[in-house]
Amino acid sequence: MTYTIVPPQKILNPQLEIAGGHALSGEIRVSGAKNSALVLMAACLLTRDPIRLRNIPPLTDITAMGEILAALGVQVIRQGEAIELNGDHINQSTAPYELVNSLRASFFCIGPLLARTGMAKMPLPGGCQIGSRPVVEHVKGLKALGAQVTIDHGVVTAVVPGQGHRLRGGRIHLDCPSVGATETLMMAAALADGETTIDNAAQEPEVVDLAGLLIAMGARVRGAGTQTITIVGVDRLHGTDYAVIPDRIEAGTYLLAAAITRSHLRVAPVIPEHLGAVITKLEEAGCRIENDGIGLTLRADHVRAVDLRTQPFPGFPTDLQAPFMSLLATAEGTSVITENIFENRLQHVAELQRMGASIRMKGNTAFVEGVSRLSGAPVQGTDLRASAAMVLAGLAAEGITTVQGLEYLDRGYADLEGKLNGAGAAIRRTSAS
Ligand code: EPZ
Repeated sequence: MTYTIVPPQKILNPQLEIAGGHALSGEIRVSGAKNSALVLMAACLLTRDPIRLRNIPPLTDITAMGEILAALGVQVIRQGEAIELNGDHINQSTAPYELVNSLRASFFCIGPLLARTGMAKMPLPGGCQIGSRPVVEHVKGLKALGAQVTIDHGVVTAVVPGQGHRLRGGRIHLDCPSVGATETLMMAAALADGETTIDNAAQEPEVVDLAGLLIAMGARVRGAGTQTITIVGVDRLHGTDYAVIPDRIEAGTYLLAAAITRSHLRVAPVIPEHLGAVITKLEEAGCRIENDGIGLTLRADHVRAVDLRTQPFPGFPTDLQAPFMSLLATAEGTSVITENIFENRLQHVAELQRMGASIRMKGNTAFVEGVSRLSGAPVQGTDLRASAAMVLAGLAAEGITTVQGLEYLDRGYADLEGKLNGAGAAIRRTSAS
């Protein structure tokens, strides 16, 4: 299936205009995982050989990461859904502030850059709409691998002291299973001298995908996907050709689009194990889901309330909390949703209330009493996944919903309106001005 992309920059002050009440049918194709592609791109800094990554989604975050790597001296060549990265001539150890500030995830370049060159200067990533996004665990882990790390005027400088600029293996215990810290430290440890153990590691599928790439490059990594990851450093890593896993959060978003419109829709490709908690909750809510080995088909007639508590993988993913809340705003009964990962990831509640949702807040918990019908309204997406949640609500609402905040949406969803319209939705990208 091919889809056309309306480059967001082509429309001033863009918004999505959604005519609610259209059932979905047929199939929606899932792109490669944004949160895997970004870290796999950074891993190219670990070798002088070219790395070819396939199934790369066409997202603004991917473009931003490419710009940051190019600023460090990496040759970046986009070839359709593949990207070739050649880190042979890294000529910088300092990433430009304005680029890093646009993409928090670029901070984990500090690990491979330090391991490869012995020095790395990365602007401290700012907070964002959903929280302060600290990097304490990343810094603590680099120090455990022998780096000297200072933070001055908003810039993190990491240096490997002594001869040879080589990190040394060590034992790291993360205070929290941070995805970015786990990934940063895996990449740093891959070229360190000796063995590294990361305890309380993140177990997300994107961590496992990174381990798959590193192993394909010649790294010695064991235990990815469990709480303890062991890496035995090697002297050098070589190039490879690697395909990124499908995006589980995008897939979950489209399954929720089918559920909120009470439709029958196939979403593919999907690795079911990557969405275990989400599939369980969708079935608990009354959806029927069939796995055909490549994709999932969801059927929804009546949807009932369920309780959600976001947790690190394999728990319920924080990235699908907002989209799932849109569904539960239309379910029979009252759901209790608790956001345990980020301190400010419930801003979509106010936007859903504008559409007639009945939600009461108490700290990091939302009590969502389902209503029979949401009503279309002008709403704002307050972060990447909240923007998607508002689109889902618009699909089910009576009348027209306009969603602003597409600068967030286009970071994580490739052609969301094109894919939904291909399954029967009625969405237009227009100018809000
Ligand atoms: C990754 O962010 C994802 N981004 C996020 O997806 C995702 O929501 C998050 O993991 C959790 O699953 C990418 O992979 C690019 P964390 P990351 O470090 O690595 C706290 C999306 O919508 N923490 O696991 O930044 C932190 O404050 C994005 O696609 C510390 O306390 O997340 C947060 O509460 C949003 N100290 C929690 O851990 C630290 O040193 C999870 O953060 C580091 C993190």
